Amino acid sequence: AAPQTAPPTDLFTPAFHQNPHEALAGLRRTAPAVPVATPNGLRTWLVTGYEHARALLADPRLSKDMRVGRDLIPRNFADPDKQRAFLAESGERSQFPHVLSVHMLDSDPPDHTRLRRLVGRAFTARRVESLRPRITELTDELLDAMARHERLDLMEALAFPVPFTVICWLLGVPPDDRAAFRRWSNLLVSGAGTDEVREASASMIAYLKALIEAKRAEPADDMLTDLVHAQDAGDQLSSDELISMAFLLLVAGHETTVNLIGNGTLALLTHPEVRQQLAADESLWPAAVEEFLRYDGPVTNATWRFTTEPVEVGSVVIPEGEFVTISLGAAGRDPARYPDPDRLDITRAHTASVAFGHGIHHCLGAPLARLEGQIVLSRLLARFPGLRLAVDPDELRWRSSLMMRGLEELPVFTA
Ligand code: HEM
Repeated sequence: AAPQTAPPTDLFTPAFHQNPHEALAGLRRTAPAVPVATPNGLRTWLVTGYEHARALLADPRLSKDMRVGRDLIPRNFADPDKQRAFLAESGERSQFPHVLSVHMLDSDPPDHTRLRRLVGRAFTARRVESLRPRITELTDELLDAMARHERLDLMEALAFPVPFTVICWLLGVPPDDRAAFRRWSNLLVSGAGTDEVREASASMIAYLKALIEAKRAEPADDMLTDLVHAQDAGDQLSSDELISMAFLLLVAGHETTVNLIGNGTLALLTHPEVRQQLAADESLWPAAVEEFLRYDGPVTNATWRFTTEPVEVGSVVIPEGEFVTISLGAAGRDPARYPDPDRLDITRAHTASVAFGHGIHHCLGAPLARLEGQIVLSRLLARFPGLRLAVDPDELRWRSSLMMRGLEELPVFTA
C-alpha cells in the first residue's frame, strides 16, 4: 500500500464523545484501519472491525513496551507545531514517572509473562468470589442512602463508590486514606500535564511506597500483602514493580467498573422492555451485563500499541513504528459480527466479546467486574422499580476520554 500522506482525521472532538457510534460506523465503512489524530496531535491508526480488532489484540508484532515506544512519539506527529509543543511539555516534565509504568499492561513477554504470573497468585478466583457477600452488603447500604433522596447523581451515589471501595479492600487501603487516594487517582487519569498532576503522582508514589512497607512489616489478609510476598521459583516483584502494579490495579480496578455501572444503568433506563425481561427472569442478568459491555463498554479503546514491523490489516498496511488504537467500542458494534448492532438485545449469543480485550493482556479483573456489575445493577432495579432519568438523554454529558466511555453525571429520580 502507498504510504499515508493525507492528514489524519481529527476524531476525538467533544461532539464525537457525545455520539461516537455513528462516526465509528462511518470509519469502518471507509477502511479497516484509518489514521486519526489524538487531541494532542499524535497520529494513530484506528481499527474498527471485530475480526481485525481481535486478531491485532493478540498479534505479537504489536508491542506495548513504551521504553521502546517513547522514541516513536516524535515522528508520529502530523503537525510540526504540535510536535514541538509536545516535546517541550514532555522531556524533563514528563508526567508519568517510570515507576508508575513498569506494570504488565505496558510490557511485552517475557516481562509481561513474569509480572502476570506473580499477580495471578494473589488475584485468585477464590479471592474474587469471597467478596460476593461484602459487595452485596455495601451495595445495599448505598441503596439505603439513596432511598433518602428523590433526585441524585447515580455516578456519585453508587457507580463510583462500589468499585472504588472494593479495590481499596483488595489492596488493603485503610478507610481514612481513601479520599486522598481518590483525588490523586482522578488527577492522574485526567491526563493533563499540569503541576497539580505531577504533585498527585509524587504523592501517590510516596503513599504506595509507605503502604507496601506497612504490609511488609505487618502482613494483612489483602492482595497487596500477598503481592509483597508473591514468589515464583525464587522470583519476586521489585519495589518499583510493586508500586506500579498497585497503581495499575487501583486505576484499572475502578475507573472502568464505574462506567459499567453507569452505562449499564443508562441502558436500562432507556430500554423499558429490557427492564421487564430482567424483572421476569433473573437468570438473564449475566447475559445482560455482557450485552451492556458490548453496547457501551467502559473501555472504548484498548491501550496503545505500536507496530514493530509493517502489519497488514485487510487492504491496509500499517507501516513499522506506527501507533495502533483498537476500538473495542466499534468492534462491539460491527454488523459483520453482531446483527442489528445498535439494538440492545440481552438474548444475543455472546461468544468471544472484546470488551475486556483479548490475548495475553485480556483483563485480569474481568471476573470481579462482572460480579460487581451483576450485583449492583440487579439490586438497584429490585430496590427502585420506579427509577427514571431526571433529564432528557440528550442532555447527558459524556467524559472526553480517549480510552474510557463514561458519563460525567447520571441524574435520576429514585421514585
Ligand atoms: C486489562 C477492560 C475491570 C485489571 C484490561 C483490558 C481491557 C480491560 C480492555 C486490556 C487492555 C489492552 O489490551 O490494551 C476492563 C473493563 C472492566 C475492567 C471493561 C470493567 C467493566 C478491571 C478490574 C481490574 C482490572 C476490576 C482489577 C481489579 C486489569 C489489569 C489489566 C487489565 C491488571 C492488564 C492485564 C495485562 O496486561 O495482562 N481491562 N477492565 N480490570 N485490566 Fe481490566
